[in-house]
Amino acid sequence: MKKMPSIDFILPDGRRRSCAAAETMNLMEVALKNSIPGIIAECNGSAACATCHVIIEDPAGALDPVSDHENDMLDFTAAPREPGSRLSCQIMVDARLDGATVRVPAAT
Ligand code: FES
Repeated sequence: MKKMPSIDFILPDGRRRSCAAAETMNLMEVALKNSIPGIIAECNGSAACATCHVIIEDPAGALDPVSDHENDMLDFTAAPREPGSRLSCQIMVDARLDGATVRVPAAT
């Protein structure tokens, strides 16, 4: 049986939580399924609200590049944009995320 990727979320209060993630899900869905605080996902994954903002601390460079639309929406996050900032709804889980560290900012 194929191993599910394991993703480490750093919560807004600094605690860490490891979550197993199915490759049929996006990162926002993984966060909601695991009740990760700070992920609001108001538009339910339509890349229209920027309330699913996360910072990919590792492996930021190995993921698919930010689309033009995601790039525009990242200008509307509540927390300041950082080099690893992404909309979690736009990142499909795959093997590249196994062992990833994903930080949830204090205000998404
Ligand atoms: S859930 Fe709205 S932009 Fe990701």
